[in-house]
Amino acid sequence: MKRILLTSAALLAGTAASAQTVGFSQIGSESGWRAAETTLTRQEAEARGIDLRFSDAQQRQENQIAAIRSFVAQGVDAILLAPVVATGWDSVLEEAAEADIPVVLLDRRVDSSEDLYLTAVGSDLVHEGEVAGQWLVDNKPEGECRVVELQGTTGSSPAIDRATGFRNAIDGAEGIEIVRSQTGDFTRSGGKEVMESFLQAESGNDICALYAHNDDMALGAIQAINEAGMNPGEDILIVSIDAVPDIFQAMANGDANATVELTPNMAGPAFDALEAYWADGTEPEKFIQTESRLYTQDDDPMAEYEARKDLGY
Ligand code: AHR
Repeated sequence: MKRILLTSAALLAGTAASAQTVGFSQIGSESGWRAAETTLTRQEAEARGIDLRFSDAQQRQENQIAAIRSFVAQGVDAILLAPVVATGWDSVLEEAAEADIPVVLLDRRVDSSEDLYLTAVGSDLVHEGEVAGQWLVDNKPEGECRVVELQGTTGSSPAIDRATGFRNAIDGAEGIEIVRSQTGDFTRSGGKEVMESFLQAESGNDICALYAHNDDMALGAIQAINEAGMNPGEDILIVSIDAVPDIFQAMANGDANATVELTPNMAGPAFDALEAYWADGTEPEKFIQTESRLYTQDDDPMAEYEARKDLGY
């Protein structure tokens, strides 16, 4: 396993602020949250005089691996990687480490050795699921509560960890049971389609709540519930993750109940860490954690919508 070493050449590159070049391998644009992360990363780079080279992987790990190899060949000063899935990164991260190019993970984790990246910026994804689950424990109606779950992209760290966290919270709570669980791939259309199939399969059986691993899938599901002639937010409680503007609008309409915020500004802390590293080799913590706050219908959702609507979601 190679450790990233800061060479004198890399340190020298750090002295000329405007000369820094950073490759960004982004997953794609599956959700409003992802779009905002891309926008904010571009804005942060511009504000700091960083030359950002952007690559959209369109949800494919092989495209991300090819982009990282291309960034290494270009001799960039750092690489930002939002990894679509958690496994399969060892070889390409070793190639970046061999070339002394620091890699910063954004919002999702990998199962590779920590030696292969400089730091990871993101939330505690298990905790997000726990916050969502605890909201349901505290707010479910009396008696049995049959829950359906829309999972994120299979094999991605948020899908794995948000599923775990939710189960941690509801385990031991009386009467809550997950009756169906399927991936909606973090997309609005996936959420709608899978919710339609849940409603069909469960016809006649009460579904008490939907837990969606992101707001976009919840928004698609809300459409499906409305089209089935039911009231989302009342007949079926809706709890999800991200805090995108549209979920606040849905909350204001009474269609959604709660969301756990994931800040899309991962690039700010990432560039702070890189600038310190470039300047004098300062090694950041291996994990730079962002906040996870719960919002409900009591938190003035229209004001939250207004505050976020122009942020690139
Ligand atoms: O990795 C973060 C997740 O990816 C966001 O919650 C989701 O919206 C996105 O697609």
